[in-house]
Amino acid sequence: MTDAIPPAPPQPTRDELVAALRTRYGTDDVTPFDAVTPTILHQLRHRSVRRFSDRPVTEDELRAILTAAQAASTSSNQTSWSVIVVRDQAHKEELKPLIGDQTFIDKAPVLLFWVVDLHRFHLLADRAGVPAAATELLEATLVGFVDAALAAQNAAVAAESLGLGITYIGGARNHPEETAASLGLPPNAAVAFGMTLGWPSPTDRARIRPRPAPAMVVHHERYDDARMLPELDAFATRTNAFFAAYGRDFDWVAYITDHFRDYHDLHGRERLREALTALGLPSR
Ligand SMILES: Cc1cc2nc3c(=O)[nH]c(=O)nc-3n(C[C@H](O)[C@H](O)[C@H](O)COP(=O)(O)O)c2cc1C
Repeated sequence: MTDAIPPAPPQPTRDELVAALRTRYGTDDVTPFDAVTPTILHQLRHRSVRRFSDRPVTEDELRAILTAAQAASTSSNQTSWSVIVVRDQAHKEELKPLIGDQTFIDKAPVLLFWVVDLHRFHLLADRAGVPAAATELLEATLVGFVDAALAAQNAAVAAESLGLGITYIGGARNHPEETAASLGLPPNAAVAFGMTLGWPSPTDRARIRPRPAPAMVVHHERYDDARMLPELDAFATRTNAFFAAYGRDFDWVAYITDHFRDYHDLHGRERLREALTALGLPSR
């Protein structure tokens, strides 16, 4: 007896795709494609969710999401990442001021902390009585960040396919040593970023934010710098219009130039190398 083949999910219609592309890019000037799948349509409809309903995230749902995370590619089959699941309300409240003090953090039913984890390589090296010198290199740290990001994004897509919502939390790098201590991380491990997870509240007003035109990020054979400034200005126009529709006066170019002007907007992340070194990830 063979396993039953599950029914194919409905194929998105051309109209659904065009509508999703228009929202995704914040313009009616979009180029649809034939190679659309339910997965792609779902990805086009991503939006960060910062307001959650009371509906709990079940252990079964979490298992599905984290299993999808584990299916992501991992550099050299090493698995340089871990994830810490935080559900305890008191623990969320302890972590909140460490990770940006953002209002929605302790309201999320689940916090996930995606960890660069080189600890297990030390365990194996120590047991074998050999050094683990290559874990000290920037390459090893970067591999851990890349692995963690790939796993996390697989989790995000899986969560959204179930109808749940996520928001990444870069603020989880604001106080790396304190956050690591709160999560009981071993040496040679650090949080790459956090993620809130929960069912979107019916009152959540967040809309799909426009992305730059493909011409800004997709190049063929060689990077085309000549079109970059006009594309940046076009994206700024779309983004500013998007926020104006919310009644928010926002200037994307001013925001970017202000963020990168100096270190004022980093909330502690400007000392990340020092913090990583203290946590046993010297990143030489
Ligand atoms: C690594 C990373 C860190 C982020 N950190 C935060 C954060 O600390 N707080 C927050 O509200 N959103 C955070 N975000 C969400 C972004 O602001 C959001 O993805 C972006 O504005 C685009 O909006 P969208 O996800 O709704 O399309 C983060 C996103 C990424 C990828």
